[in-house]
Amino acid sequence: MTAEILVLAPVPPFTLERLDKTFSTHHLFKAADKEKTLAELAPKIRGVMTSGGSGIDAATVARLPKLEIVSVFGVGYDPVDLPACRARGIHVTNTPDVLTDDVADVALGLTLNVMRRFCVSDRFVRAGQWLKGNQPLAEKVGGKTVGIIGMGRIGQAIAKRVGAMETTIVYHGPRKKDVPHRYYPDLVAMARDCHVLIAACPGGEATRGIVSAAVIEALGKKGAFVNIARGSVADEKALVEALVEGRLGGAGLDVFVDEPNVPEALFKLDNVVLYPHVGSATLDTRKAMGDLAIDNLVAHFGGKKLLTPVP
Ligand code: 8YV
Repeated sequence: MTAEILVLAPVPPFTLERLDKTFSTHHLFKAADKEKTLAELAPKIRGVMTSGGSGIDAATVARLPKLEIVSVFGVGYDPVDLPACRARGIHVTNTPDVLTDDVADVALGLTLNVMRRFCVSDRFVRAGQWLKGNQPLAEKVGGKTVGIIGMGRIGQAIAKRVGAMETTIVYHGPRKKDVPHRYYPDLVAMARDCHVLIAACPGGEATRGIVSAAVIEALGKKGAFVNIARGSVADEKALVEALVEGRLGGAGLDVFVDEPNVPEALFKLDNVVLYPHVGSATLDTRKAMGDLAIDNLVAHFGGKKLLTPVP
């Protein structure tokens, strides 16, 4: 296919390889002088490939007069300026479904890790501490109440996994869903009743800071917060303060407000588990995400129906 595709953000080498074979591609993320390179390429670009973390802003959209489609390598598209794309009839696609299981696995992993102290136990053994005595006792997962924020595809996959640990699942979201779990329209009320609160909702303005200081306070010392969604869904300052001051039981975090910068105050806390945004980071899934992101471009430029346009 002859369409000119601009690759705005890094994607895995195997994805880039197939993209390069399929289209005429330009790796803007590698350019030394991005401004100059963009100015030269802009008039001919018809497609953009970007990541769920980088998206595309309105200013960049405005600089690409022939842009027809933005393909996001990721399920989240919160950094894509949708109104700017919609205003010009530019299609936006993402990569749902193919990463659901992996992200849900990480949510389960973080939940078990925080409650059963797996990371800190590993550090304990490596540091030779076991020779001197035992660790403090951990917390049983079975029998606890787990609140999921966002009962979409990923939320439901988390409910399946965490529910298998004999927990009670409850959820919060903008509306009640057809699922066999108790719905809480009020997040503070749900946090009050939960031992674990898991964020699995989309990022963006609608969910910015919904895990507020009040929600964190309601979760309190008895509770742990797990986030596999976006750093923006929590009031990160309030979260860090509550953890440092011992007002929140623990946290398992895969996402942060300013990645890859993680609040350093968390580094010394044993009740906090920190992952570098690895929800979908398996070889199988990243291959599937890359293929789906490319297949959307192929469909568009082949005059076919898009596979996964964003709603
Ligand atoms: C990726 C993600 O880390 O799908 C998402 O929304 O956050 C992740 O799967 C990201 O898109 C990779 O660039």
